[in-house]
Amino acid sequence: MKGIILAGGSGTRLYPLTKSVSKQILPIYDKPMIYYPLSVLMLANIKEVLIISTPRDIKIFKELLGDGKQIGMSFSYAIQANPNGLAEAFIIGKDFIGDESVALILGDNIFYGSNFGNRLKQISNNNHPATIFGCYVKDPRAYGVVEVDEMNNAISIEEKPDNPKSSYAVPGLYFFNNSVVNIAKKVKPSVRGEKEITSIIEYYLKRNQLKVELTGRGLAWLDTGTHESLLEASNFVEAIQKRQGLYIACIEEIAFRKGYINRDQLIKLAAPLIKTAYGQYLIEVGNSIK
Ligand code: G1P
Repeated sequence: MKGIILAGGSGTRLYPLTKSVSKQILPIYDKPMIYYPLSVLMLANIKEVLIISTPRDIKIFKELLGDGKQIGMSFSYAIQANPNGLAEAFIIGKDFIGDESVALILGDNIFYGSNFGNRLKQISNNNHPATIFGCYVKDPRAYGVVEVDEMNNAISIEEKPDNPKSSYAVPGLYFFNNSVVNIAKKVKPSVRGEKEITSIIEYYLKRNQLKVELTGRGLAWLDTGTHESLLEASNFVEAIQKRQGLYIACIEEIAFRKGYINRDQLIKLAAPLIKTAYGQYLIEVGNSIK
């Protein structure tokens, strides 16, 4: 399975913060935002990742993440010239996807929860045609909203409905089989002028091929769409990391624990970060496993 991180958009809701820099490079406490979705793909055992961003911002992601070899991954890069919608990621990523299945995650979606890594591994192993999540939220109107029956089968999906049929928002993490490439080509732009991911999901739903993983209290899905929620996400990560001493979205740690890099490589990656708690944490992780 391949992975795509879509880190585009103009970020206007976070101006002036994002006037000259990508939203997905902004800090969430101690690391750039894109580390969080990248860690999710890594936890799903995905090693080949395409990062899609704007013509202006693509170079900062290249500078940050390189070709991925340093953490035993493979990163490639592509441009989305205009914010034409999430579904376009599969058209831009067509050659990268080849004949494999693919997971798409939005560069500003942050997930944290117990057993989430195992759940992700299961989904990527299951080879179901399409899997999405349904996260219970107080006000789902700003999101895709999925309605489910008592057996948790999807009944309907709507993009940003004024009158949501359920409290289950669809977060920006999607698993599709290879058909998604052709489905995406057929998607017509919505009223807001975007090729909506919701149209792709609807296609699978109509063919009874959509699986919805509902999440309850055990999973935190954090929004970073406003200045307030951006700060809250940072505070959340700080609180968990301080209390547990275990880092969220530490990509070097994940690579080490998955055996993509050895102890020496991890220690080498820690060297330029040694003045920070992050760098010292990497050393600790390296020393914790004999
Ligand atoms: C997009 C999707 C929406 C989804 C959301 C998750 O919304 O269109 O279905 O719920 O991401 O973050 P947008 O960010 O384009 O408003």
